[in-house]
Amino acid sequence: MNSEDHVARNREEWDGWAADYVATGERNWAQDQPSWGVWDVPESELPLLPSELEGRDAIELGCGTAYVSAWLARRGARPVGIDNSEAQLATARRLQGEHGIDFPLIHGNAEQVPFPDASFDIAISEYGASIWCDPYRWIPEAGRLLRPGGELVFLVNSVLAMLCSPDTEEAPVEERLHRPQFDLHRIEWPDDDSVEFHIPHGEMIALLRRCGFEVEELLEVRPPADSTTRYPWITLEWARQWPCEEVWRARKRS
Ligand SMILES: C[S@@+](CC[C@H](N)C(=O)[O-])C[C@H]1O[C@@H](n2cnc3c(N)ncnc32)[C@H](O)[C@@H]1O
Repeated sequence: MNSEDHVARNREEWDGWAADYVATGERNWAQDQPSWGVWDVPESELPLLPSELEGRDAIELGCGTAYVSAWLARRGARPVGIDNSEAQLATARRLQGEHGIDFPLIHGNAEQVPFPDASFDIAISEYGASIWCDPYRWIPEAGRLLRPGGELVFLVNSVLAMLCSPDTEEAPVEERLHRPQFDLHRIEWPDDDSVEFHIPHGEMIALLRRCGFEVEELLEVRPPADSTTRYPWITLEWARQWPCEEVWRARKRS
């Protein structure tokens, strides 16, 4: 496999997985208050949305069923969603119609977004481009798309969870290291044909800075004590002791 193949491989996988994401999409579109990540931590406990949204141009990179864009639109922002999977976008379009909220949805690769430089004030990704695109491609692209002072917010699996993850997506992370941190970048699971990307914190900070960002915050997600999740890769016992997810906030330098 070559290093360019991840977009086509992930498109095929996500077209196949889209049916499994319909129920979550429907639930999140119907929710007025955002909740985030595998534990559905409410926005009041894990604030991801930028404080000012009214009239701001936003792009959701790897929007899936586009419920994050819907939350942005309801708060006065002007979102655009881009996603690599036409099947995921079909759910998003149906839910737009059912909820009477309309915004552009583009079928494409978040590493090469068909908008001019400095088109947006906000770029956001919850497990979208943030794990399915190569950070050395999508973060420079986010830097190009954002205006000076613009905000980049993204949620991903934590680096620690990736290091402690056995070589399968289906088994939960363990209390031991399974892979080296040095050279952590592209991960291919044996269960399917998808490709994920995760890089160590030092590399992420250096990359963000090279792309014109100042890092403002790294939030390490701690689920509430009674949390549940549908995802098999994590247990509450593990996630109550170590961060299994993290949120990065960075601002484009003026
Ligand atoms: C887990 S969903 C993210 C959406 C939503 N926040 C969620 O958590 O369900 C991941 C999405 O990333 C999309 N994706 C994967 N590779 C992409 C790429 N190169 N460009 C744009 N979207 C991509 C997939 O098609 C999928 O819809």
